Amino acid sequence: MSRLLVRDLEQLATPAPGAAPARGERLRDVTVVEHAYVLCEDGLIAAAGPMRDLRPLEGEVEELDGRGFCAVPGLVDCHTHPAFAGDRVGEFALRAGGASYQELHAAGGGILSTVRATRAAGRRGLREAVERHRHWLLRAGTTTWEGKSGYGLDRDTELDSLRAIRDAGGIPSWLGAHAVPPEFDDADAYLDFALAEVLPTAAELAEAADVFLERGAFDVAQARRYLLACRESGLALRLHGDQFTELGAVALAIELGARSVDHLEATGADGIAALASSDVTAVLLPASALFLDRPMPPARALADAGAAIALATDFNPGSAFCESLPLVCSLAATQLHLSPAEALTACTLNAAHVLARADRVGRIAPGYAADVVLLDAPDWRYLAYHLGGPVVAAVVHAGRVAWER
Ligand code: NIG
Ligand code: FE
Repeated sequence: MSRLLVRDLEQLATPAPGAAPARGERLRDVTVVEHAYVLCEDGLIAAAGPMRDLRPLEGEVEELDGRGFCAVPGLVDCHTHPAFAGDRVGEFALRAGGASYQELHAAGGGILSTVRATRAAGRRGLREAVERHRHWLLRAGTTTWEGKSGYGLDRDTELDSLRAIRDAGGIPSWLGAHAVPPEFDDADAYLDFALAEVLPTAAELAEAADVFLERGAFDVAQARRYLLACRESGLALRLHGDQFTELGAVALAIELGARSVDHLEATGADGIAALASSDVTAVLLPASALFLDRPMPPARALADAGAAIALATDFNPGSAFCESLPLVCSLAATQLHLSPAEALTACTLNAAHVLARADRVGRIAPGYAADVVLLDAPDWRYLAYHLGGPVVAAVVHAGRVAWER
């Protein structure tokens, strides 16, 4: 048996017991234990609570000194695009000078420039890139992550992307409908190919399918066709929707029973009300809105209306070159007007719900995965408070110290 005792923590903070996803008042329901410990056994949490309840332990136990640190659950990033090669730093500089993301996309840059770089990287280059990005996520406190394909858009590179994500410990989503690659005349011709040639194997590798429903990408009819075929093959459904334009992504997500609709920067009152009375989680990506200098999603209105909300990075080379959920929590507090407690629940328990893992990750409680982030802080709310600072001191993953500053 392998055992790790994290002792003498200043505080331990975790979403309180209760069903996932947490909505409304329950989003704020975070249990805080002062002067706490966490005991991990064979990759799972065996016990956690106040130091005064810790009984003497027999046998071999590795100890980690928690003095000066606070513990929160390993963070869960339910929306990332880590399977890419190259970068878009030139495009970033052009945007700083006034060019818009959509103009660059329409001119064959944007997503398609990363598609060219990713295809050219080869299988080995792609695996190295995913591995590098996985380490960035881990250092930021992320122990569970979803990763999308979508920069291959040909059979081999899409499937290699899904395998690279899986082999790096991620949860793969097939973003087969991200953009129309240049060798196809239109979106329907591309979907004919993708659904016939890529879906059968993608469905064995991925847990979910995702689509970019937007002007210049895929329209509602095309998104419905793609998602229906993917659902038929056993995949759960996700959508990139209402990023720039409200084109019906929320209604489609609800109609098809999708797990989530992500972005929502352009969502209006009807979409908020529809999400609030549905089982679809609204995944908010404030780093992407910030990076593109776009309006923030209506997070406060969604939370107040009772929608299930989650937070994620959207880590990708074009619209959110940001792997840090702690920074996303800072943006949630300052830009989305969510409290630190709401932000914590949104990037742990509720994000785990989007990945159908809320029974295993996203809480510090007996039986959950022993995934714990130690914050270099006297108060757990530094997770959101320390804007861009080195707030993560160590990361415990599956009961072992996976990263330490
Ligand atoms: O979620 N919006 C579509 N896809 C990604 C960005 C992809 C890119 O710019 O490379 C997103 O923002
Ligand atoms: Fe995205």
